[in-house]
Amino acid sequence: MANMANKVLLKFATSMLLLCALLFTSTCSCQSVPGIYMLGDSLVDVGNNNHLPLSVAKANFPHNGIDFPTGKATGRFSNGKNAADFLAEKVGLPTGPPYLSLLSKEQDLGDAPITGVNFASGGSGIVRDTPKQSISLTQQVEHYSLVYEQLVQKLGSTGAQTHLAKSLFMIVIGSNDLFAYFKNNSDASKIYTPQQYVDLMASNLIQLMKRLYGMGARKFVVTGVGMIGCCPRQRKHNATSECKEDTNYWSTKYNDGLKPLLENLKLESPDINYSYFDMYGAMGDLIQDPQKYGITEIKEACCGLGNLKADFPCTPISKYCSNRNDHLFWDFYHPTEMVSNLNIDLMYNGPKQYTIPINVEQLAEL
Ligand SMILES: *[C@@H]1O[C@H](CO)[C@@H](O)[C@H](O)[C@H]1NC(C)=O
Ligand SMILES: *[C@@H]1O[C@H](CO)[C@@H](O)[C@H](O)[C@H]1NC(C)=O
Ligand SMILES: *[C@@H]1O[C@H](CO)[C@@H](O)[C@H](O)[C@H]1NC(C)=O
Repeated sequence: MANMANKVLLKFATSMLLLCALLFTSTCSCQSVPGIYMLGDSLVDVGNNNHLPLSVAKANFPHNGIDFPTGKATGRFSNGKNAADFLAEKVGLPTGPPYLSLLSKEQDLGDAPITGVNFASGGSGIVRDTPKQSISLTQQVEHYSLVYEQLVQKLGSTGAQTHLAKSLFMIVIGSNDLFAYFKNNSDASKIYTPQQYVDLMASNLIQLMKRLYGMGARKFVVTGVGMIGCCPRQRKHNATSECKEDTNYWSTKYNDGLKPLLENLKLESPDINYSYFDMYGAMGDLIQDPQKYGITEIKEACCGLGNLKADFPCTPISKYCSNRNDHLFWDFYHPTEMVSNLNIDLMYNGPKQYTIPINVEQLAEL
């Protein structure tokens, strides 16, 4: 008798669960994105580099994280959250955990959450490879391949393809390649002309996107590089603290080369949809009219030491500003939390000029 009642109860509970699941999926449009796979550099690293013992590209110490909900440094190069967090919030998902945090002592991949994983690594580049310091984009794609295999095991091949086709693959990369090239006497500048170098960056990125496509990716969010010659560290090279012209010029050249390659990729593989974000334009508009966004300091970093607080990084002995929300830069390379949030707002459903050919909201809803 009790057994019977239990069975009925179980049946009831199961059907209620199903009903809830149905209700949830039909009322919540954010359900259209089941996962986010984040690749890139320090703009979206949420703690991978914490697990690289020899890397100096780290942010897991104060004053980083001072405005994070826990008030603690997490490895994000920010006073608080970064773009990876804000994108996840937009589509109602948790921020994907750092890939390296999922590895066991034996370096085996543990249980990766189905809602996505973050592969990004501070200092990372497309062409530039600094093993032990950061995880190159090529290596990040290798890491994704292991998550992909696990998904296929969990969901079956068809289930995994369906899941991944709806998921977002965001790639934020390129700044470090350009910084490295435009250092005095850089190795890269002895091998390549600037034009060859930015062409190589764009074509390598497309090759890696093709590899991701081969492993289920269909919805890409790709950002161009920002006006990176205007970060405090680069302004330091100019006597009047203006932006470094060559870095900016070749940033636009890289972005201009990438856009038609993305169009071609879509022509070759029509089941790809993507949103390209004009980070350069967004940053340019902010620098032109900072007041519009409540920002009053666009040159000096909030946290650091020396001229423009750009002689020395943000560390526990550095000074930091009390007014983080009116600074463009948190440290000598990275935007404040507020500016990362603004960028995600712009790419998600901001004015049309910032995204090509569709915005991230439209991409998410596919
Ligand atoms: C390159 O060297 C010149 C002259 O030594 C110096 O003025 C300039 O700041 C350096 N630029 C960079 C990017 O280090
Ligand atoms: C500093 O920037 C200004 C404005 O962009 C530029 O005209 C000038 O050549 C730069 N000076 C140096 C030393 O780079
Ligand atoms: C997504 O790609 C498909 C196939 O090319 C296309 O028909 C569709 O219009 C695209 N969606 C958007 C919103 O651009």
